[in-house]
Amino acid sequence: MSSAPHFTVKQILNATDIPFPAVVKGWVRTFRQNQFIALNDGTTVQPLQIVVDSSAIDDQTLKNITPGAALEAHGTIVESPGKGQRVEMQAQHIIVHGPADPNSYPLQPKKHSLEFLRSIAHLRFKTNTFGAVFRLRHGLAIAIHEFFHSKDFYYLHSPIITASDCEGAGEMFRVTTLDPKNPPLKEDGSVDWSKDFFGREAHLTVSGQLEAELAAMGLTRVYTFGPTFRAEKSHTTRHLAEFWMVEPEVAFARLDDIMDLAEELLKHLIQYSLQHYPDELAFLQKRLEDEEKQLPKEKRSPMPLIEKLQFVLSEPFQRISYTEAFDILKASKPNRKKKFKYPLTDWGIDFQTEHERYLVEKHFKKPVIIYNYPAEIKAFYMYLNDDGKTVRGMDVLFPGIGEIIGGSERETRIEVLKKRMTQIGIAPDEMQWYLDIRRWGGCPHAGFGLGFDRLVQFVTGMQNIRDAIPFPRYPGYVAY
Ligand code: 4AD
Ligand code: MG
Repeated sequence: MSSAPHFTVKQILNATDIPFPAVVKGWVRTFRQNQFIALNDGTTVQPLQIVVDSSAIDDQTLKNITPGAALEAHGTIVESPGKGQRVEMQAQHIIVHGPADPNSYPLQPKKHSLEFLRSIAHLRFKTNTFGAVFRLRHGLAIAIHEFFHSKDFYYLHSPIITASDCEGAGEMFRVTTLDPKNPPLKEDGSVDWSKDFFGREAHLTVSGQLEAELAAMGLTRVYTFGPTFRAEKSHTTRHLAEFWMVEPEVAFARLDDIMDLAEELLKHLIQYSLQHYPDELAFLQKRLEDEEKQLPKEKRSPMPLIEKLQFVLSEPFQRISYTEAFDILKASKPNRKKKFKYPLTDWGIDFQTEHERYLVEKHFKKPVIIYNYPAEIKAFYMYLNDDGKTVRGMDVLFPGIGEIIGGSERETRIEVLKKRMTQIGIAPDEMQWYLDIRRWGGCPHAGFGLGFDRLVQFVTGMQNIRDAIPFPRYPGYVAY
């Protein structure tokens, strides 16, 4: 048997110095005419064609070359005389590591629905669609680290188990080791959390922001990039119970600075995807077009995927205040014709997805950043403007996705902060550390959170966020 080096399919398809001996390992996509294997190892959309001489292969091995089988092929990479591929392998030797019984293997060489693939999420990595999605997801993660690293931001590992509720929304998963059938009780009958593992109540974090703020007060620029957890009962195509967030936090920065940073980051990530993953994007674009063929025209994506990504790069994002956005929405045709499910009534309401989509997709036809939101609908840590009604928060809204980033300039005045904490039921004493960084060497600072899975969803054109993360978790569902 040859002792040639093991190359990935990607390396072989990009090779220029042909012919050369090689070993390749992967999974069979198709096997035609007892002669042509299409092999994929997850490194590219394109499979490698392996030409076998079936008379030289024993019967059992030949029988085992079926879709899904794991095999190793030894041979020579040559220019392909056939159409459809530049190079191919002339195999001298085949070893089937793991056959896949065609009578039971669920992934046949035909189109499967995304819902079906979600129900067999342990197998969907083998498909072209999810290969492309997860390669892009990886590329975006790398690009995020490169982007921040090049700007002297430091990657901060914020804790996953936390003793505080950053967003103050009470949507947290409890972390406990107490016996659910027999928890220690206090005299009043309530659970005595002081007897729990940490000696107090603990939860999974909803955001790394508060800890990032602490770190930024010494390191100037930091970012977190990790899993966050929200026990919100949202059954939408844009919500997960476990999702990944990227949270830069910048000392001496104000609202305008982080709006600039958010726009620069998003454009960089889209540019990076177009540059490094053209084959994946072309494949995903075609997939989306095929899928949308069955839909009525108004339900289809207004632009092909790649054009949409280029379009987002081409123009500055629209920046408007909440009040301006409210006025536009109030005067809009769907509002006047009572087409919105949630009509625009009084200043101060929170915008719904239908409003955000109207602004982005119909009115401005480009990404929109809304800033200076009513204090009432935003978290306690946002800087209160002099009008006493609005805070220096901002949301970046994307077509098809809605909110992809939420951020703010942070409140630095201890008295104002204490008042807002008390209003929403956080005892300031519980978060003395958060006040301390304002007490000693406090300074203006600002940051935001980018929903990483929503970003992946946008770039890959996947309609459902559950198809943008390897193992989705949502209300009523956890597996693996
Ligand atoms: O707007 P959010 O709640 O902001 C924060 O958590 C701040 N602490 C961020 C900061 O200033 N450092 O969440 C930020 C982003 C949203 O814009 C959205 O993209 C994403 O996180 N997100 C979700 N993504 C998937 N599933 C969910 N349930 C999400 N909730 C928020
Ligand atoms: Mg938000």
